[in-house]
Amino acid sequence: MKTYPNVYIFDHPLIKHKVSILRDKNTGMKEFRELIEEITTIMTYESMKDVELVPVEVETPLEKTVQYRVPEESVAIVPILRAGLGMVNGVHRVFPTARVGHIGMYRDEETLEPREYYCKLPDGIEQKTVLLVDPMLATGGSACDALEALKKRGCGNIKFMCIIAAPEGIEAVAKAHPDVSVYVSTLDRCLNSHGYILPGLGDAGDRLYGTK
Ligand code: PRP
Ligand code: URA
Repeated sequence: MKTYPNVYIFDHPLIKHKVSILRDKNTGMKEFRELIEEITTIMTYESMKDVELVPVEVETPLEKTVQYRVPEESVAIVPILRAGLGMVNGVHRVFPTARVGHIGMYRDEETLEPREYYCKLPDGIEQKTVLLVDPMLATGGSACDALEALKKRGCGNIKFMCIIAAPEGIEAVAKAHPDVSVYVSTLDRCLNSHGYILPGLGDAGDRLYGTK
């Protein structure tokens, strides 16, 4: 696959270890949900390496010192429903005060085209660093439309984090949104004729919520 300057693919042994368990069809719902959260937390550290810090005065037991903190209101998490919801707690472990917006998308099973059915974002989101999350990037249709929806509402600083991506999806997002930094835990081989990622992990929403 061609490389893109705005796409970062992780090469981390702990992520490899956890993704191998995530993929296993015998991994149950509870462990699947926990692994999605843990992988998201690891990815959040890397994807927020350039987050803005502000100086604060702190008094230690010994003296006053100037230290640096992330302003509480500066980060928002936006999961793409449903499966993206599984990643929210993983980001909240790192940014517990981040506001959460929701974008509802589902893929038409015939055409694979995404359909937006819900969008509710925190006030002032256009001032924040927005972390859009979805575990699966397949054709890229859902992510591209969600990024479009965020930009239409004024968001200018957006990062997108996904756990498993197909080359087709990466290409689609990188080309349509070169201004968005894309963080991918694992690059897979290709899509099958039904738009599922191979080797993939199946349907992330169903595995998170036990719907099938
Ligand atoms: C999955 C996944 C992504 C989308 C990826 O959601 O969570 O949102 O498919 O596919 P794409 O890149 O081809 O658009 P799905 O539509 O199955 O909805 P769900 O999360 O409610 O199960
Ligand atoms: N959505 C999923 O949940 N899994 C895939 O493999 C593709 C899209």
